[in-house]
Amino acid sequence: MVRIPAFEVEQWMDKYETTPGVLNISETCASSITLEQLVQFNSQKDAAPLFDLSARMTYGTILGSEELRQNIADTYRDQDEPEAASPVSPEDVIVTQGAISANYLALYSLVGPGDHVVCVFPTYQQLYSVPESLGAEVSLWKLRAEDSYVPDVSQLKTLIKSNTKMLIINNPNNPTGATIPLPVLSQIVSVAKAHDLILFSDEVYRPLFHSSPAPPSVLSLYPKSLATSSLSKAWALAGIRVGWVATRDGALRARLASARDYTTISVSQVDDGVARYALSAPVRPSLLARNVGLARANLELLARFVADHARTCDWVRPTAGTTALVRFRHRESGRPVDDVAFCEDVLRRTRVMLVPASKCFGNGTEFRGCVRVGYVSETEVLREALESLGAYVADNLA
Ligand SMILES: Cc1ncc(COP(=O)(O)O)c(C=O)c1O
Repeated sequence: MVRIPAFEVEQWMDKYETTPGVLNISETCASSITLEQLVQFNSQKDAAPLFDLSARMTYGTILGSEELRQNIADTYRDQDEPEAASPVSPEDVIVTQGAISANYLALYSLVGPGDHVVCVFPTYQQLYSVPESLGAEVSLWKLRAEDSYVPDVSQLKTLIKSNTKMLIINNPNNPTGATIPLPVLSQIVSVAKAHDLILFSDEVYRPLFHSSPAPPSVLSLYPKSLATSSLSKAWALAGIRVGWVATRDGALRARLASARDYTTISVSQVDDGVARYALSAPVRPSLLARNVGLARANLELLARFVADHARTCDWVRPTAGTTALVRFRHRESGRPVDDVAFCEDVLRRTRVMLVPASKCFGNGTEFRGCVRVGYVSETEVLREALESLGAYVADNLA
């Protein structure tokens, strides 16, 4: 039996997000849309309906429909490689139930006892707890606020061992909202190449680059790389549970596909249909523009909050994705708040939901005083939540 620690952020969300009247600014998805809204994003006037009601509900194509995998491949072409000689192709893509299944599949298929893995920290806990539970040794590559949470490659070099097999990054990062820019990605690729490592990048917040140039996916930089993503965050469709893992390396892909046979068969054909509609050429640009626009507008509100409460909080302004780490401290002493007690009390008294970073991203010891804010909610929800949080902070952080 696999022994695995509690997945802190998922348990926190599950425990509190159904609090009656909650003002949820802890969510990591761009504010989710309805299917009625989705069809409004279609620029093609005589578009086919969202569902073909005459389609038989077979398992469908096992790895994901050809059209969905083509549309996923096209998302890479939009940003990375409009003129690349060998673009990501539909054959490189394996469809899964969300990025969480894609991550699990990649880790379960490729690492085990005797392997050493290096993983950025903080990040989504799955990325380091699962390899550990599979018997791999994991070293955490710590990101620092003073580096704007961009990984320091000189530190990476000190972590590599003779049995290092995989290097895991998360770009853009949850919870910091930092982007790894191309020059740093290129240095990471050089280290991976020099040691023949698998470079695994969780890119679930791609392509939500609202305040930084979009760096390429690792798929465009290094053949022995894997990228995971989904419809949940940048595309505002978490409820359809469609994600993917892509790699140009045929041997890696064969191992993923073979392990996946034991857990998935195929994803829901209804979900596959919605996903291929959402990522189709007439829908994709306007859907993404809505989410990037929402992120930009809301980030301004959050930036104003941080500036207005500079005596009690500070941050590294995020450059992409949907989340930010904000550190709160007591006004007089400068002492960081107990972020777990702070989040619980804020929720109880104001209904504003935040995520305590030391518990959910810092193994209980790091990122004390920090909370994760998911700011790409509906703008009115964020506005109301920040107003209540501001009043709470003024009254309670003496
Ligand atoms: C970095 C990261 N990877 C993966 C996931 C899982 O996302 P999905 O809804 O696609 O399963 C999340 C969700 O918060 C995440 O933050």
